[in-house]
Amino acid sequence: MLMCMTKLSFLALGLCFIDTAASVATWPSPTYDELEDLMMLNDGYNARDFPFPLVPCTFARAPGFSIAGGFLRTAFHDMAPADIHTGIGGLDASVGFELDSTVYIENAGVAFNNSLTYYSKFFNGRASMSDLIGLGVYASVRACGGPVVPLRAGRIDATQAGAVGVPDPKDNRQKMVAQFARMGFNQQEMIQVVACGHTLGGVHSAQHPTVVPNGTTPLGTGDFDTTDSTYDNKVITQYLDGSTKNPLCIGPDVDSRSDLRVFSMDGNKTVSVMADSASYSTTCSRILQKMIETVPAGVQLTDSITPYDVKPYNLQLNVIEDESLLFSGEIRFRTHAVPKSTISSIQLHYLDRNGASAGTIDTIVLGDASGFDDTFTFFGFNTTISAKTSISSFVVIATLASGTVTYDNNGEGFPVQDTIFAQTLNSTLGPLEDTGTQKATIIAAVRSGTGGEPDMSISLINPMTYNHLPTISKSTSPMTKVCQSKYYTFYSGGYDVPVAAVNGTKYDVSVGSFSDSFKNLDLPGIAGALTCSGSGGSGAATTSATWSISTTSSSSTPANGSSAKTTTTQDSNIWTTTVVTAFTTYCPGATTFSQNGKTYIATEATTLTIVDCPCTVSWTRSVSESSSSTTSISTTTTAWVLSATTTTSSATSDLLVRPVSDAVTSATSSSSTTNAGLGSLSASEGVTSSPVSPAIATFTGGASSFASGGNVIAWLGSTFVAAVYLL
Ligand code: HEM
Ligand SMILES: *[C@@H]1O[C@H](CO)[C@@H](O)[C@H](O)[C@H]1NC(C)=O
Ligand SMILES: *[C@@H]1O[C@H](CO)[C@@H](O)[C@H](O)[C@H]1NC(C)=O
Ligand SMILES: *[C@@H]1O[C@H](CO)[C@@H](O)[C@H](O)[C@H]1NC(C)=O
Ligand SMILES: *[C@@H]1O[C@H](CO)[C@@H](O)[C@H](O)[C@H]1NC(C)=O
Ligand SMILES: *[C@@H]1O[C@H](CO)[C@@H](O)[C@H](O)[C@H]1NC(C)=O
Ligand SMILES: *[C@@H]1O[C@H](CO)[C@@H](O)[C@H](O)[C@H]1NC(C)=O
Ligand SMILES: *[C@@H]1O[C@H](CO)[C@@H](O)[C@H](O)[C@H]1NC(C)=O
Repeated sequence: MLMCMTKLSFLALGLCFIDTAASVATWPSPTYDELEDLMMLNDGYNARDFPFPLVPCTFARAPGFSIAGGFLRTAFHDMAPADIHTGIGGLDASVGFELDSTVYIENAGVAFNNSLTYYSKFFNGRASMSDLIGLGVYASVRACGGPVVPLRAGRIDATQAGAVGVPDPKDNRQKMVAQFARMGFNQQEMIQVVACGHTLGGVHSAQHPTVVPNGTTPLGTGDFDTTDSTYDNKVITQYLDGSTKNPLCIGPDVDSRSDLRVFSMDGNKTVSVMADSASYSTTCSRILQKMIETVPAGVQLTDSITPYDVKPYNLQLNVIEDESLLFSGEIRFRTHAVPKSTISSIQLHYLDRNGASAGTIDTIVLGDASGFDDTFTFFGFNTTISAKTSISSFVVIATLASGTVTYDNNGEGFPVQDTIFAQTLNSTLGPLEDTGTQKATIIAAVRSGTGGEPDMSISLINPMTYNHLPTISKSTSPMTKVCQSKYYTFYSGGYDVPVAAVNGTKYDVSVGSFSDSFKNLDLPGIAGALTCSGSGGSGAATTSATWSISTTSSSSTPANGSSAKTTTTQDSNIWTTTVVTAFTTYCPGATTFSQNGKTYIATEATTLTIVDCPCTVSWTRSVSESSSSTTSISTTTTAWVLSATTTTSSATSDLLVRPVSDAVTSATSSSSTTNAGLGSLSASEGVTSSPVSPAIATFTGGASSFASGGNVIAWLGSTFVAAVYLL
């Protein structure tokens, strides 16, 4: 293993690297943990759904404009100006300042802005835009059937544009070799990375009319190989067998045949090896890892991310009485090697604040989640513990069919610090004010006898704007003592959060070197006032007196306004309808949901899970296109009602609009609740025939050819916009 410890051998021996990484990180590791979530929790309970626009890989912003291809290419263009001799440039998201294609001509086209705008929805203090660009490579390659590209976290975002430095198809051999050498890639690696990039998507007439002349392809795109939506080595095999249609090999613009120039540079030696598909996979996993690990000097990356077997979530202490604390949280258990069916219980065994064994806590199943290659089950708990002896750490004990296994976080136990924590039960997020803000009132509980005064920080995200990356504004303020209980003193702090920023805002409470951090403002609108036994404060703290449902905070909340997380269930007695809308990046236009007289507006990807059917769900999609027609449908079954109104571009567009009535009919006529994704869709108008993914289906053909099996339904305007399916 020791030989694996140098960076050089990491790169040379990919397998060795994976072996090393098998000794999993110690929790908590903030940046690693956030990226691990985004990488692993694609679907199900607590899903982050980062790969939403990549599943299936055929998703296109407009026909012929591959989203996966855009993600992969964005990473290359960001890295390409790297200069390994000066240590300047590399994967640092500087492409976010280089969108003006009059200056950076290589960044013409919408893919860069769209990819970055999508990533910016996931940006926060623990997920830099540059790490998200790296994650986009992992997700796009994997979603399209390619290998796992190992991902390390910790990249730091640029604050300004970098050098110009993306190769041009017209560059001659010497210039190309020199440019890749500047990036740290020798000739063979150059050939490999181009061969590993040019398998998704293709060349667009709009950006490269001399390479793919207008009107010579049905969608305005000359694909690199015959499987533009599969991450495979056909770009190489078709080049070698002479059947290639790759415009960068055989296009009419002879000077721009850069792939031909690159692939043939060593007499086809490198690409011939990659004609073996296993070799292509291994090579691409390694060379794309090198591409995303080409970072500015001084950036320290974490270990390669592998899933934790056991990972805690939302650990929270609250003071409930003088003598007791409420300890609540969730444990994510990886069910890949240990099937869920073999688990008879998951328990926590905890130590008190003096390190003495203090008891066992039972958990209940909350739900399942999955990533591309892993499955997980979440277990939840909440229990009262002694305020006097409290808690310092726990281990997780799984009772399996084969015996008992203890997960001890690499021998350290999972730490729980009880010196300061947000008293979430008595903290509030107030209603929307005339000023356009909501008041966050944060209560912190500080262990008596702790030195120093606590403070509170709020980290607001300043959203990405065109040609600028998103940033974080952190403001820290002291907290005011309110009152005290036997073991804890309560402090209060407030901040007026602009309503548009509430979702992404995180807060911390800290005292000395202790902190309860990176917490979401998912606080109740009204909470009990603090009532303390001890003296020393001003008595009861004031909290907001009224609670109103604001559209901002309730769009993914079930009808009765419960702030609890929704749990997707497949219990056949409960109808679960999941409505998925594309992110604004790919689906401009608000989506409105009404249920039980309440209206929810979703402006970004939203999963609305309704568990109290029979119910009515209606949604409206507005597309700001010139001529419009309106369709209204209402269908009733004994179990539920789904009504829909769409306003879409008129049927005179190239692609016919799929009426929602088909979706509704198909959905309501299906008796099964479990076969989502089994349908098949076909298109007869020569546009695209999309395979159906397990999660969702796209449909990009004409109206007459719509054919749905199972209960998968999709409809579209002039491009893909949304899909509806039943779980
Ligand atoms: C010699 C180096 C390279 C040159 C000259 C080059 C050139 C091009 C050109 C001209 C296009 C067409 C863009 C358009 O019309 O929209 C393209 C597309 C693409 N390139 Fe490269 N490229 C190079 C290396 C790479 C590398 C190293 C990667 C990633 C590893 C990559 C990934 C892609 C992808 C995924 C697309 C398709 C984008 C889409 O379908 O929207 N390229 N490249
Ligand atoms: C190709 O078509 C686009 C519009 O589709 C037009 O803007 C462009 O000028 C055309 N280019 C050529 C070379 O004809
Ligand atoms: C490389 O492969 C291409 C495509 O098959 C072929 O035209 C060319 O002659 C090959 N070059 C060499 C040096 O073998
Ligand atoms: C604790 O769990 C019980 C059921 O086990 C639930 O009713 C209660 O709402 C939970 N409380 C918190 C604060 O999560
Ligand atoms: C906050 O998040 C919810 C659900 O994810 C979303 O529907 C809502 O539009 C978001 N609010 C804002 C202001 O972005
Ligand atoms: C916090 O609020 C709850 C009601 O939500 C109340 O019962 C409790 O006394 C409050 N906690 C403290 C420490 O005052
Ligand atoms: C509110 O949710 C609870 C479960 O949390 C459910 O039992 C109840 O029926 C719901 N009420 C309404 C009005 O939907
Ligand atoms: C960048 O992309 C976003 C999201 O797709 C879009 O709203 C915005 O108008 C784009 N900006 C430009 C200048 O293209």
